[in-house]
Amino acid sequence: MVQVTPFLLLLCLALVAPGLSSTKCVLTGKWINDLGSNMVIEAVNKDGSFKGTYNTSVSDSPHEIKKSPLLGYQQDTSQNDQTIFGFTVNWTFSDSITVFTGQCLVDKNGKEVLKTVWLLRSHVDTIKDDWKATKVGTNVFKRIEDQKE
Ligand code: BTN
Repeated sequence: MVQVTPFLLLLCLALVAPGLSSTKCVLTGKWINDLGSNMVIEAVNKDGSFKGTYNTSVSDSPHEIKKSPLLGYQQDTSQNDQTIFGFTVNWTFSDSITVFTGQCLVDKNGKEVLKTVWLLRSHVDTIKDDWKATKVGTNVFKRIEDQKE
């Protein structure tokens, strides 16, 4: 009986421990947001910097939408599995720039979600038009899972 108790304790730990480990939220990959825009984030460098491409599904510009580059940083992930980040998209087809900031969070189903706030700055010709040059909004991104054959 004396030997059975430690064995049962170990068994309980083995069963419970995997459920306690939280999913790490990783920025690298393909994402789609609530507007249907897509972005690809490449591997995150040691210093937290990353690059990628953004394909917006909507635009305020009269020009044809083109895939545009993004550059960003994530915070140190050594202490946190749900990283905060910021990135800039330099639109190649429009006189505008968008900055996004947000956090990579794990939802109740264990799925990664990027909750972001953005500022879209558009070019204006004169200082008197500055008041109308910046839009603000939010976007929620979900990971596009690679399709299995
Ligand atoms: C422009 O209209 O000048 C360039 C495209 C801006 C697209 C914006 S950025 C914020 C929001 N989220 C998206 O996915 N697209 C729009």
